[in-house]
Amino acid sequence: MGSFELLIMIKEYLTQNKDRFLSELFELLRIPSVSADSKHSGDVRKAAEYLLEKLKAAGVDKVELCETAGHPIVFGEKIINPSLPTVLVYGHYDVQPPDPLDLWTSPPFEPVIKDDKIYARGSCDDKGQVYMHVKAFEAMTKLNALSCNIKFMIEGEEEVGSEHLATFVKENKAKLKADVILISDTAIISLDHPSITVGLRGLSYMEVEVTGPNRDLHSGVYGGAVANPINILSKMIASLHDEQGRVTIPGFYDKVVQLSASDREAINKAPFSLENYKKDLNIDDVKGEDGYTTVERTGIRPTLDVNGIWGGYTGEGAKTVLPSKAYAKISMRLVPNQENNEISELFAKHFKSIAPKSVKVKVTALHGGQAAVTPTDSKAFKAASAAFEEVWGKRPIPTRDGGSIPIVALFKKELGLDTVLMGFGLDSDAIHSPNEHYGIKNFMLGIETITAFYKHFSKS
Ligand code: BES
Ligand code: MN
Ligand code: MN
Repeated sequence: MGSFELLIMIKEYLTQNKDRFLSELFELLRIPSVSADSKHSGDVRKAAEYLLEKLKAAGVDKVELCETAGHPIVFGEKIINPSLPTVLVYGHYDVQPPDPLDLWTSPPFEPVIKDDKIYARGSCDDKGQVYMHVKAFEAMTKLNALSCNIKFMIEGEEEVGSEHLATFVKENKAKLKADVILISDTAIISLDHPSITVGLRGLSYMEVEVTGPNRDLHSGVYGGAVANPINILSKMIASLHDEQGRVTIPGFYDKVVQLSASDREAINKAPFSLENYKKDLNIDDVKGEDGYTTVERTGIRPTLDVNGIWGGYTGEGAKTVLPSKAYAKISMRLVPNQENNEISELFAKHFKSIAPKSVKVKVTALHGGQAAVTPTDSKAFKAASAAFEEVWGKRPIPTRDGGSIPIVALFKKELGLDTVLMGFGLDSDAIHSPNEHYGIKNFMLGIETITAFYKHFSKS
């Protein structure tokens, strides 16, 4: 069968089965597999079981739920010929918590289609993108067009740090033997500008607790004489950036790779409209480290952000209280060469050092991982690029994304495998936010592009 003919057949199969693909995906989206919330651990397992069934139905031979000390890993493989290349598909079936619920225009676990987009938690990150792989596999199997061996490893703890997957990878190197890892869990620039992610940031996620007096106090009787941990914490947090928008933790930038002028130029050549960016977010100005563009600030520079801050009275009305404790969750996005454990230590040391004597400070590292840069000269990258060119009619632009998939660096370290980040989301898909959505066009084109990837990869 000619390669053109094959693409036509695949297209036909996808068109004929589109409604069923969507209704199956909807079923998966109805399962509230929130990994962060132990109340949902039964649902997390249900999502794993659902995927297992669908992989089996699609023709994957060896499918199993691999138990871990946390949520199970869905594993499957189809080895058609040991002499052909093997692709290991990774993704995650767990999702972020849906809150704040009142900001959703339709319930997060009752998927609906509006303006050709699927609205549901997990529609883009990452159930919708995982499901493209299941359906691409189904189409190739049904049409006798499978040209590579495939392994699937879909985990349920990506959104909480992939702790048990890391152990699983270290303990199952033979099982995971492959030539490349393929992941759809990132974004393209736009439907007009397909792109392939070649860089992800690392992460260091901290929680801090500031304790003042041993109990909550009357803010009139004690206020002005005893340290208020919320006041203190706010000031400490404010001091973590200087006037130039740089992080003030000593040593934070020591290992940061400085990109050459030509690399920076290339990064800034990617289509990006600051006006549209601001309009989309309804902000009058952007803010970040001086001397870098918005694309550079998210792509190649490390950052520090407060993700949550709490303490004292936050209920209805007023309560005059000088709280005993204040807390914050603080994350740092890291770039190549920064080591997340080292950065966590630098943070802890610095944060304790800036605390006044009037309070006690506790710092805990929650999770983290290394940044990753994927090669653009590999067979697999070239196959992905050719797949986009064939299906989208345009050569994909390599981009560096600001988000993190810490397991990518671990795959390289433990398995020696490079990853191709062939994601199909859009930055405007509102992942982790209320009203997360995923374009049906992205979903369908994604399936097609994945099948084209296998074709090109097996030929190379
Ligand atoms: N799929 C995202 C990461 C992502 C999103 C990368 C968009 C590039 C573009 C992933 O599910 C995610 O949210 N990762 C977390 C890190 C994890 C350790 C909790 C993140 O980036 O916050
Ligand atoms: Mn994801
Ligand atoms: Mn996510």
